[in-house]
Amino acid sequence: MNAFTTTGLPRALCVTGLLSMLSLGAPIALAQDAPVRIGLMLPSTGTYAALGAAITNGFKQYVDEQGGMLAGRKVEYFAVDDESDPAKATEKATRLIKRERVDLLVGTVHSGVALAMARVAQNTKTLMIVPNAGADELTGPLCAPTLFRTSFSNWQPAYAMGKVAAERGHKTVVTLTWKYAAGQQAIDGFKEAFEQAGGKVAKEMTLPFPNVEFQPFLTEIAALKPDAVFVFFAGGGAAKFVKDYAAAGLNKSIPLYAPGFLTDGTLEAMGEAGEGLLTTLHYADGLDNDKDVAFRRTYAQTYKLKPDVYAVQGYDAAQLYHAGLSAAGGDVRKQDVIIKAMENATVDSPRGRFTLSKAHNPVQNIYLREARGVDNKVIATPIEALADPARGCNM
Ligand code: PHB
Repeated sequence: MNAFTTTGLPRALCVTGLLSMLSLGAPIALAQDAPVRIGLMLPSTGTYAALGAAITNGFKQYVDEQGGMLAGRKVEYFAVDDESDPAKATEKATRLIKRERVDLLVGTVHSGVALAMARVAQNTKTLMIVPNAGADELTGPLCAPTLFRTSFSNWQPAYAMGKVAAERGHKTVVTLTWKYAAGQQAIDGFKEAFEQAGGKVAKEMTLPFPNVEFQPFLTEIAALKPDAVFVFFAGGGAAKFVKDYAAAGLNKSIPLYAPGFLTDGTLEAMGEAGEGLLTTLHYADGLDNDKDVAFRRTYAQTYKLKPDVYAVQGYDAAQLYHAGLSAAGGDVRKQDVIIKAMENATVDSPRGRFTLSKAHNPVQNIYLREARGVDNKVIATPIEALADPARGCNM
């Protein structure tokens, strides 16, 4: 058990204090008055470090907008760097749940890490919100009443890009990604729509996560001469890939497509190499709904950073939990009430309002965006209200 309380006082001291309050007839501090304990298990090092920071910023922005409280309760954060390392995930999630006794587990970016977290959360019946990781299983075979996602499934934006690539007249595509759940599921989603529409994925290439030695693959793409290339990369690795693609001269001859993680939060680092890239995602610059305008203004003022999809997903994780906790009058023990309210919530997201599917994944528009300067400008909405098929979810 944690030797220290949320106030930082040794536990023994607190028991003594409580007993003396009782004898003096002072009001007893109820569990209800203690802060809500939020575990933020996100990457703060490695290729996904900036993504973890944006999610944290977004989550805290929403809480700060509620005066630092959720459903009338103060919030205490317990942050852990998951290092995007699945091998360390079970131990780190267990520590947050067992030692820090978090009421809500928020995480993470990397699909492999999130899958391990979800198993620990499920075994301990801990409420968990995924603010990024797209692993299809989380809202598929591993779906659970206590597991929610405010981001996307890997299938969603990739499937939309398969449709767009086919509509743009491409017939053969070569794919490249890191070899782990997110990349492989993105390729599968793209291929499903692209091949349904008559296209052909001629070759699927992978490299281990988070390697950035792209040269041999670029040489092979140049030799294969497909109509287009589809990739899944994100964070630091995405910026490096796009720069290498341009340096090899491939951007002049073979169009490059990807889910929008390729260009969200990375355009500045890409410079000229990113200009004009077309990507699909559930967020974009220039959506210009009232919520988005206010969200972006506050985010830029508070963090001196441009908001991106990760910040939005973190903000919405806090919003979703707030909807649940409010219905329970701030009582974290009323898990059934919290879950029901979260299931029925309409989240007023900067991406546009969304609801959750039966499997607890956002049903959302997928936008086609074009990189212009440091913006991913929305140019079309290829699929409205897209729900993940939730294959294997029995809920
Ligand atoms: C994932 O591992 O699911 C993942 C990571 C980074 C992204 C998107 C998905 O930008």
